[in-house]
Amino acid sequence: MKRRSTVAAIDVGSTKVAVLVGDQGDGDAVRILGVGVAPASGLSRGVIDNIQSAREAVSIAVEKAEQACGMRILSAVVGISGAHITSQNNRGIIAVPDRTRPITLDDRARVLESAGQISIPTNRQVLHVLPRGYWVEGTDPVSDPVGMFGGRLDAETHIVTGAVSAIQNLTKCVEGAGVQVDDIILESIASATSVLHEQERMQGVAVVDIGGSTTAVAVYDEGTVAHTACLPIAGSHLTHDLARVLRCPWESAEEVKCKYGAAYADESMESQLVDIQAFGTQSSKTVTRKHICEILQARSEEILEMVGVELKRAGYLDRIAAGIVLTGGSSQLAGLAEVAEARLGIPARVAKPGGYGGLSDLIGTPSFATSIGLVEYALKGRERVAEPAGMQMPSLHFDAPVGGFFRRIASIGRALMPQ
Ligand SMILES: Nc1ncnc2c1ncn2[C@@H]1O[C@H](COP(=O)(O)OP(=O)(O)OP(=O)(O)O)[C@@H](O)[C@H]1O
Ligand SMILES: [Mg+2]
Repeated sequence: MKRRSTVAAIDVGSTKVAVLVGDQGDGDAVRILGVGVAPASGLSRGVIDNIQSAREAVSIAVEKAEQACGMRILSAVVGISGAHITSQNNRGIIAVPDRTRPITLDDRARVLESAGQISIPTNRQVLHVLPRGYWVEGTDPVSDPVGMFGGRLDAETHIVTGAVSAIQNLTKCVEGAGVQVDDIILESIASATSVLHEQERMQGVAVVDIGGSTTAVAVYDEGTVAHTACLPIAGSHLTHDLARVLRCPWESAEEVKCKYGAAYADESMESQLVDIQAFGTQSSKTVTRKHICEILQARSEEILEMVGVELKRAGYLDRIAAGIVLTGGSSQLAGLAEVAEARLGIPARVAKPGGYGGLSDLIGTPSFATSIGLVEYALKGRERVAEPAGMQMPSLHFDAPVGGFFRRIASIGRALMPQ
């Protein structure tokens, strides 16, 4: 994708739609020029289940962002998530015809193309083909084969696919709001872009974005994406547990969770009393904070256990030296990182997006990790964000949806226009 000066990104989350407009500020920092947020509608478990409602929510958020930055949004990079997303690693091999000449950028592009080819059913579409590593003549892996000698070159890629119908629904919903889709990016990869440090990526880390109804996981090992997954459990489950056990309206449960909630309960909370709204003859009732936190602890531990099972299943739980980096709105639950360390036995920290300028007080929370990552993708292009450390990518793109549909749309016009 071409490097552009001002871009827009849309995160259609299950609790909020966030539209961000940004540009490349001084140096390499992303500068956010406008933000529009609207309550989500028409989404279930991270996937659109009512196009009209979702489109209205996107329209409202787009309008707000346009007003904030004084520009019309014509096209945007959009995030995708949901249980329909699957991923796999794939190998490709090519023969280097003349082994007396060094391996070229062209050879590297060819082997990546070969490693990006998998057979998928017609109801699925490739979203990302991310390079993982190379082998010259099957020896130890090398970070970049260009300039080396050998008759055979292998490459491994991480390929992310999604259901065509979910991708089409998302595209239609954004287009219905008057915005063309430049590109569709997996939300967990976008979040990783805005919260991970380079050293964490190199030594092995899992970014865990716990949102409203989905927990998106992306594992990085030796600087590249090694595994991605999306679990259908997150913050709304915590709220629903509270509402069910305390028999109170959802709005009250949500407020209590954010104000007094924690992922653990201890004796000091026994004496802290919290008033909540109630159903029935009484308009409110009083519960101890300990009771609230006991309910939240059970579900928080379940979410973290599910993350642990997923990491173990993929073979990374014992390999990620930097542990897990929690982000997304629900990572703000007090004590979550400590509980994660205790349950999973690996380091954990909560991260909000950093390294950008402008409007930081508005969006400097873990809820905006995905949106800011999407802006970075839109600004730098897939190749630059996806490339492993120290690697220069060939001009031929390879982290691209097969068929280049979104690229064709992207070439139609500019992303923004003055109002
Ligand atoms: N202080 C807080 N403590 C606990 N939970 C919080 C806090 N603030 C927000 N949340 C929760 O964060 C969730 C929303 O997070 P986020 O904005 O990342 O979701 P989303 O991107 O809309 O959803 P998804 O990524 O699942 O599609 C809600 O469930 C909300 O209750
Ligand atoms: Mg989200």
